[in-house]
Amino acid sequence: MSVGRALPHDSAELHVSGEALYCDDIPAPASTLHAAFGISTIAHGRVRDLDLSLVANAPGVVTIATPADIPGENNYGSVVHDDPIFAEALVQYAGQPLFAVAATTYRAARKAASLARVQYEELPAILDVRSALAAESYLMPSERIVRGKPHEVLATAPHRRRGSVTMGGQDHFYLEGQVALALPQEGGGMLVHSSTQHPTEVQGIVAHALGTSAHAVSVQCRRMGGAFGGKESQAALIAAAAAVIARKTARPVKLRLDRDADMLITGKRHDFVADFDVGFDERGRIVALTVMLASRCGYSADLSAAVNGRALTHVDNAYFLEHVEVISHRCKTHTVSNTAFRGFGGPQAMVVIEQVIDEIARALSLDPLDVRRANFYGVGERDTTYYGQKVEDNIIHDIADRLEGTSRYRQRRKEIAEWNAASPVIKRGIALTPVKFGISFTATQFNQAGALVNVYADGTVLLNHGGTEMGQGLHIKVAQVVATELGVPLSAVRISATDTSKVPNTSATAASSGSDLNGMAAQAAARTIRLRLVDYLSETYHVAPGEVEFADGVVTVGARHMSFREVVAAAYLSRISLSSTGYYRTPKIFWDKAAMTGRPFFYFAYGAAVSEVAIDTLTGETQLLRVDILHDVGSSLNPAVDLGQVEGGFLQGVGWLTSEELYWNARGQMCTHAPSTYKIPAASDWPELANVALLERARNREDTIYRSKAVGEPPLMLAISTLHAIREACAAALPAGSAIDLPAPATPETVLRAITPLAPRVFA
Ligand code: MTE
Ligand code: HPA
Ligand code: MOS
Repeated sequence: MSVGRALPHDSAELHVSGEALYCDDIPAPASTLHAAFGISTIAHGRVRDLDLSLVANAPGVVTIATPADIPGENNYGSVVHDDPIFAEALVQYAGQPLFAVAATTYRAARKAASLARVQYEELPAILDVRSALAAESYLMPSERIVRGKPHEVLATAPHRRRGSVTMGGQDHFYLEGQVALALPQEGGGMLVHSSTQHPTEVQGIVAHALGTSAHAVSVQCRRMGGAFGGKESQAALIAAAAAVIARKTARPVKLRLDRDADMLITGKRHDFVADFDVGFDERGRIVALTVMLASRCGYSADLSAAVNGRALTHVDNAYFLEHVEVISHRCKTHTVSNTAFRGFGGPQAMVVIEQVIDEIARALSLDPLDVRRANFYGVGERDTTYYGQKVEDNIIHDIADRLEGTSRYRQRRKEIAEWNAASPVIKRGIALTPVKFGISFTATQFNQAGALVNVYADGTVLLNHGGTEMGQGLHIKVAQVVATELGVPLSAVRISATDTSKVPNTSATAASSGSDLNGMAAQAAARTIRLRLVDYLSETYHVAPGEVEFADGVVTVGARHMSFREVVAAAYLSRISLSSTGYYRTPKIFWDKAAMTGRPFFYFAYGAAVSEVAIDTLTGETQLLRVDILHDVGSSLNPAVDLGQVEGGFLQGVGWLTSEELYWNARGQMCTHAPSTYKIPAASDWPELANVALLERARNREDTIYRSKAVGEPPLMLAISTLHAIREACAAALPAGSAIDLPAPATPETVLRAITPLAPRVFA
């Protein structure tokens, strides 16, 4: 049986040999044009004059596309149609595309794009969340969830603390930048190869931009070189611009952003600020909490409503909040439109509650782990979230118990305190933080999927489903499901590119639900074919259907054994259909938007991590020395792939919270648009000692595909333990009882500021 085996990624060898085909590797016809965007250099203003004469006359240039060349709608926004492909009179962020130029080579296009002479009338720009809050600059109405009587209970709470939390955004830094290749077809058709998590949405947006319909546009994606949410909505801009020029010139067009362009033009993780007011008792148990969340959405809506919706429902993390009010403001700023990023607003909300817990622990001089435990959701009591969903699958106590033991958290905490007392310059810290993350798209309608399975007469299987491969191992997991369902070896199943003309109306591969949704849909398709074969065999050989079995490429029919291949060949001759679609929709979920209550999540994923760090109090540099992780993936479809997701997600989170800093200057130009100024983790940042384990004998209590659990996003939030280990180390460097002012990312500068609060702010 393929399911449950620790198999390498299906493309592992192709990845390392360089044979794996990414969009840019697809052989393009000789007539292909290469395009580049010309972008705004100011954050907010009106375009008074756009002089493109130098661009048009540059060597190799074939055409320029502006809004006038868009036959349909000048928009790539999926939810609200407020994202122009090319800005018209109004420019709303530095980096916003104004036009695209197509030339005979990639270099010629890039060079020409920089030659535009633009005259602007600059307007005042709102550049950060606090300024947007002060100006009440919101993109959409604020949302609020309240339970109980938080304000009344706060007023009488035994202890009370107010504070603020600040955290930065994050660039996706996928290794493969945004790219699309548009190929005009006969009769007004368009074939687009797009590096996208959401081929169906690209199809719709390209169709609208071209003024045609979905059936005229096909979108394909074999794989992405990473996406992390950055290609959920924003890939549509690149695809739409390429398609517009392809339509204009009747030639194939490739649009590939280089790293700087990608970082300047496309959206990132939302940075957040939060203000909280918490009441608690002697044990550190929260009795009431109010939280104001505000995020930088950028200039347009994009997915910000959903991102902030997920933030709104993740302020609890693993903790029961009885009297609580959470308000979420979605700030409009004159910066790039922020978008999905692994965790989708959840991580930001969880950073807030973890800091609240940490401040309670410091106020009471308790071990933060004891305060965390005092607040964990109960089992059978204190188990309903503030949005009304009962936590039925709570295993956080078990995970925390086990991890506390295997990591020797308590002993090490003591040892570290002793070590710190004798170490004047280097200070260490340790922290254990939990993760509870809701699984399902917060927008209920996206929780559906389709698949197409073809069995060919030679016994081989071609699998197609609506999910996309971005390195997370979705395709091999779904192939394992199909191989198991048909009782064939995995080598008999070939995975093909995601293609809107094979499986229509799909959702983005996002919300970690790729294998939950597409695994079920593909299983349904394969099952339909197997049941047809069972019927055929039981009739032909006069055996009961229960006596037909498929396993290991062998079909057992009563006492008879045949190869799968023989059975399929015979079934074909007997005119049995060997192809089927499959469909799945997630049960049990609903959301009442008016009341802000429901059961938005099918189930929760859990995990916990213990990080140990050292900080250098002279430079502020930090090092992650050791991490212990215990993460729940249910009954894993593929433990090797899942372990990779846990490790990769964790380290990506460490990057977000410790080293990846986005910096805008006073004019709203983003200055960190290359690896020279934006520091993602490297292999050398992986800790010397890492004990990463999947929870054993785990099983999803909900009926998911083979009782597995989603794994893509939740491990990112394990990295909050690293931020808190740094907080502990800072505490050791400060006089006992000091407050800790440590925003994220905890870069060396930030750490230095936190441990020298009275020093002049040289880096301000
Ligand atoms: N892993 C790799 N290697 N590359 C990626 O781009 N994206 C993450 C996660 N893991 C990503 C990844 C994000 S944001 C999500 S939502 C999930 O994978 C999507 O895939 P899944 O639903 O199949 O887990
Ligand atoms: N996660 C990721 N992408 C989404 C979601 C979500 O919850 N909702 C809509 N798009
Ligand atoms: Mo992942 S942020 O849901 O693409």
